[in-house]
Amino acid sequence: MKKKIAIARGDGIGPEVVVEGIKILKILEKFSDYQFDFVETPLGGQVLKDTGTNLPQKSFDQMKECDAILFGAIGLPDLPLGAAESAISKIRHGLDLYVNLRPIKLFESLRDKCPLKEEYIQDGIDMTIIRENTEGLYAKKGAEVSDNTVINKMIYTRKSVERIIKFGFEYAKNKGHSEIISVDKANLLECSQFWREIYLEIGKDYQDIAQKNFYIDSFCQWLIRKPYSVQTVVTENMFGDIISDEAAYLIGSLGMVASGNINPGKVSMYEPIHGSAPDIADKGIANPIGMILSIKLMLEESFGEKTYGDLIEKAVELSLEEGRTIDILPHPKSDLRKGKLKTLNTNGMGDLISQRFQTLLRK
Ligand code: NAI
Ligand code: MG
Repeated sequence: MKKKIAIARGDGIGPEVVVEGIKILKILEKFSDYQFDFVETPLGGQVLKDTGTNLPQKSFDQMKECDAILFGAIGLPDLPLGAAESAISKIRHGLDLYVNLRPIKLFESLRDKCPLKEEYIQDGIDMTIIRENTEGLYAKKGAEVSDNTVINKMIYTRKSVERIIKFGFEYAKNKGHSEIISVDKANLLECSQFWREIYLEIGKDYQDIAQKNFYIDSFCQWLIRKPYSVQTVVTENMFGDIISDEAAYLIGSLGMVASGNINPGKVSMYEPIHGSAPDIADKGIANPIGMILSIKLMLEESFGEKTYGDLIEKAVELSLEEGRTIDILPHPKSDLRKGKLKTLNTNGMGDLISQRFQTLLRK
């Protein structure tokens, strides 16, 4: 099977982690029928400085011709706010990537990195946040800026709300989840009331799945109070952005979380949820696991390939017992630190996972 993958490395730690993602794909190529054709599609802050645009037309045209896009991260601290980052919205809107899928799973070996006490972790954390990716405040439609007043408009359309909520229910059904949570602010915002009406309406077709609603503020505390109980969450763009960073820290680091920007059946984009992390860029210490798990998501969501995705996750799990990047190292006083656990740089972590993946593929 030939697959064309657009490679959008970006800025800061983006290119550092993309390399580790490509390593995994190259190993998969060796042990399976997959053949990957990597197409470089430069974008981001440095590209803006060099060419005057953060997303050259050629890059975007090539992305449209690919089977999937692998994206690092973009943003440079010496550019005006959002100057580089708007390239992400251009891709999300340009390809109508309306689903932002963010699985948040605490690996058993990282329990020590979860900031919560055992009673709040119980049998583990394994949830998926499904965020609407094209509308809400972030669509930036109809903004009004004057000297003394600035207005951003929060826009929801029936078409977009319906399709993301349906995706959420279908996802919960396919994963065998017994419960779905919708997050809104329906006690205050008309947009949220509209969302909730549609959620309740669509929910009638999924009577086997228990249906809950939370206000965004209340859900933020629920996430740290009973994270072990949360399964599928469906919410709008900004709320999803915020709660997924909160949830990411429950599993040890922002560097652990993968995401898919998906238009089901069409070209979709996979990326770790973190940004370009200028504070650690060029040091070779970034955690590549969010990127590597983004490959798993790509295989599952774009290529319908579950087996290899599961093996990638297994390879990550095995590797975490042997070595870790510094963001997920145990506390210096922890016994785990005294054991065999190695401190690894980005490249070393990527190599270790690749080796374990290779061993699993050989079996
Ligand atoms: P960030 O995610 O880049 O970093 C937040 C914190 O997490 C930093 O302390 C960083 O060192 C740490 N961190 C992030 N990824 C890590 C990894 N893989 N391993 C270890 N530690 C990691 O968010 P921040 O600082 O708010 O934004 C930096 C830049 O990235 C900004 O320009 C922002 O706009 C941009 N950004 C880009 C995104 C994208 O390309 N999709 C998403 C989020 C932010
Ligand atoms: Mg974010």
